[in-house]
Amino acid sequence: MKTKGLLHPLGTVELPLDQVLVGDCIAAMDALPPASVDLVFADPPYNLQLGGDLRRPDDSLVDAVDDDWDKFASFADYDAFTKAWLAAARRVLKPDGALWVIGSYHNIFRVGAILQDLGFWMLNDIVWRKANPMPNFRGRRFTNAHETLIWAARGESSKYTFHYEALKGGNDDLQMRSDWYLPLCTGDERLKDAGGAKVHPTQKPEALLARVLLSASNAGDVVLDPFFGTGTTGAVAKALGRRFIGLERDPVYAKAARERIAGVTPLPPEAFATAPSKRSEPRVPFLSLVEAGLVKAGETVVDDRRRHKAVIRADGTLSVGPAIGSIHKVGALVQGLPSCNGWTFWHVERDGKLMLLDVLRGEIRAQMAAA
Ligand SMILES: C[S@@+](CC[C@H](N)C(=O)[O-])C[C@H]1O[C@@H](n2cnc3c(N)ncnc32)[C@H](O)[C@@H]1O
Repeated sequence: MKTKGLLHPLGTVELPLDQVLVGDCIAAMDALPPASVDLVFADPPYNLQLGGDLRRPDDSLVDAVDDDWDKFASFADYDAFTKAWLAAARRVLKPDGALWVIGSYHNIFRVGAILQDLGFWMLNDIVWRKANPMPNFRGRRFTNAHETLIWAARGESSKYTFHYEALKGGNDDLQMRSDWYLPLCTGDERLKDAGGAKVHPTQKPEALLARVLLSASNAGDVVLDPFFGTGTTGAVAKALGRRFIGLERDPVYAKAARERIAGVTPLPPEAFATAPSKRSEPRVPFLSLVEAGLVKAGETVVDDRRRHKAVIRADGTLSVGPAIGSIHKVGALVQGLPSCNGWTFWHVERDGKLMLLDVLRGEIRAQMAAA
């Protein structure tokens, strides 16, 4: 059994890592030590309030979510349940942890209000736009073509994880937006029983979970899913080098999840390791390059087309005529711009070729890392 010991007032409590626990998620979370998980992903009952059968125009029956686990006697009952599981999830989250919860118009507004009342801090709501939504068969409303995910930090001061640059890199160097266009879970990914029927009515697509885990967790992080279903969170966590804790009250779903996850081969670490973000790299003042002898006082720096030049001063500033300032200020000044990143604007000449200051900064950073 893979476990991780955590110090708890009652002694060392083992975390049930990479396991699926069968039972009520609130009781299961209450049994875990506080501040022990990095991320919660929750796909709770939506309380869809479906009355009667839903049929297509040809009178065939729609395979809608009418399971008992999605039924609540009243909104008040649903709110009480939501408050209880969210409070339990908040207790097990580390101070810098965060929670994702997915829902639809039936429940997400109630969930959002309760989240805020409990002290969670909203970071984004993500619209999952479905590439292949189910049509509105009665033609009485718009096609319901999206679901909403709320991403919230445990509290206002939580230093939550967000791999901004990794997401941007995978998005043609454009900031990842809060509307995600992804298909429903279909084809081989959809678990079917021996008779070809869906094992679970609301199995989520792995691509959705992959985006959540890649953006908001690190390799090795513990991700808890209190409504595990077929274990989509666990399958993706295993592939991406995260640890998971799955809670599911239905033993049939839990068994299907275990079997599914057993068949997942983890990706090699180089396929998911997050590149260090620029912001997390140590700050290097330009003066350090002068002090290290990588550039010399009195030497000239130029832009990539040699249209602008400035002189490096002994104190780590640049001068152009009477103007003196940082590599950034002088870079902005010569271009007539409000701002400039001097590291990626100025070059020095080395062996007849131009070399960016940013490359020399990289050398200092490599020395710092080695030390
Ligand atoms: C919307 S489904 C989750 C589907 C899952 N994300 C997947 O991809 O398969 C919600 C699941 O929560 C389970 N569930 C409902 N209430 C629960 C509770 N109190 N404790 C644990 N599981 C519960 C249901 O049995 C159901 O499988």
